[in-house]
Amino acid sequence: MTQHLATRPLMVAAARREPVTRAPVWIMRQAGRYLPEYRAIREKHGFMEMCKTPELAAEVSHQPIERLGVDAAIIFSDILIPLEAMGLPVEFTEKGPKLAQPIRSVADVVGLRIPEPAEDMPFVAEAIRILGQRLAGKVPIIGFSGAPFTLASYAVDGGGSKDYAQSKKLMVTEPKAFGLLLDKLAETIARSLEAQVKAGASLVQIFDSWGGVLSESAYREFALPATRKAVEMTRTRTGVPIIYYLGGGPHLLTPSVRTGADVLSVDWRLDLGKVLDRHGKKVAVQGNLDPTLLYADPARIRAEVAKIRASVAGRPGHIWNLGHGILPDIPVEHARAFVEAARGD
Ligand code: CP3
Repeated sequence: MTQHLATRPLMVAAARREPVTRAPVWIMRQAGRYLPEYRAIREKHGFMEMCKTPELAAEVSHQPIERLGVDAAIIFSDILIPLEAMGLPVEFTEKGPKLAQPIRSVADVVGLRIPEPAEDMPFVAEAIRILGQRLAGKVPIIGFSGAPFTLASYAVDGGGSKDYAQSKKLMVTEPKAFGLLLDKLAETIARSLEAQVKAGASLVQIFDSWGGVLSESAYREFALPATRKAVEMTRTRTGVPIIYYLGGGPHLLTPSVRTGADVLSVDWRLDLGKVLDRHGKKVAVQGNLDPTLLYADPARIRAEVAKIRASVAGRPGHIWNLGHGILPDIPVEHARAFVEAARGD
C-alpha cells in the first residue's frame, strides 16, 4: 500500500478521507465511569482534581487503550475547564456540572477574560505530554473542546438544562452580547486546541452536544459563524484534522458542513450512508451507533455494527464511534464487542 498507511495513524488518514485498510474506531467518553479501573481512581479523587492532576488525567486516558483496542486516545479533561479559566467557576456535583455565577448580562460577557492556556490551564498540555510518552506513538491523541454554542449554554444556563431558556433568552433579548460571548468562546477554543496540539494531540474534536436544540435559522445566525471562526483559527494555527460533533442535529446537517470541519460526527438519528451520499466529497463522517444499543448482547451489537457497515459500503472517510458518549453502566465486554465488530476482528 502507499507509504502514508505505514507512517500516518489510521485516525488521521480516515479523517482526511484517504484510503485505509480498515476504518478506525474509538469511543466518546472512553475514560468514563463504565471502566472499573476508572472508578477505582475516581473513588479516591474528585473529578476536577483528576482533571487538574496531569499524572491522573494521563493514566485514565490510557486505560481504554489496552482494555478495548481502540485506535485513538482522547485526553481526560472536560469541556467546561476553559470556562473556569475565563472566570466562571465550575463545580461537578452528583447532578452534573454547576456554575455559581452564570452569565446573564452584557456586562457579564464583557467581563469574561480570554485565557492563556499555558498560564490558566497548563495541566491539560502536561497531561497530553505524559500520555504521549506512555503511548509512544502507538495510537494518536485526540484533543478536544466544547463548541461555542454548547459552552455558551453552560455559561448562561449555569449547568445542564432541558430547555436552555436562559441562553435562548439572552440570544433573543441581547443578540449582540450573545454574539460577543460566542466570539470570545471561539478565540478561547482556538487557543485551547492550539495548546493541546503543541503538546502532542494529532487531531481535535469540537463537541456541540446541545447544538441540536437550535432552529436552523438560529444555528445559522449564531452557532455556525462562531463555530466556523473557531474551526478556521484552529486550522490556521495547527493544521491537524478537526472533528465536529453535533448532537441531535439532523435538521442542521447541511449548515454544519459549512463549519469547515474535516469530519462530521453525527448521532444515531442520521443514516451515515445518506450523509456520505450528500456530503462525502467534502467531509468524512464519524459515528454513529446509539449508545443505548451497548446494553444489548454482543450478537445484537455485531448485527447493529453490520448495518452501519453496509450503509457506509466501504467508502473512505469513516471513523467508527457511538452517536454520543458511552453510558456509565455499560458492561465492559459490550464496549469491547463494539470495538471488535467495528475493527472487523
Ligand atoms: O472520553 C473521555 O472521558 C474524555 C474526557 C471527557 C469528559 N467530558 C470527561 C467526563 C470529554 C470529552 C467530556 C466532554 C463533555 N463534558 C461534554 C461533551 C460531550 C458530551 O458528552 O456531550 C459535555 C456536555 C460535558 C459536560 C459534563 N461533564 C457533564 C454534563 C458531566 C456530568 C454528566 C455525565 O454525563 O457524566 C460531566 C462530567 C464528566 N466529564 C465525567 C467524565 C468522565 C463523569 C465524572 C465522574 O467521574 O463523576
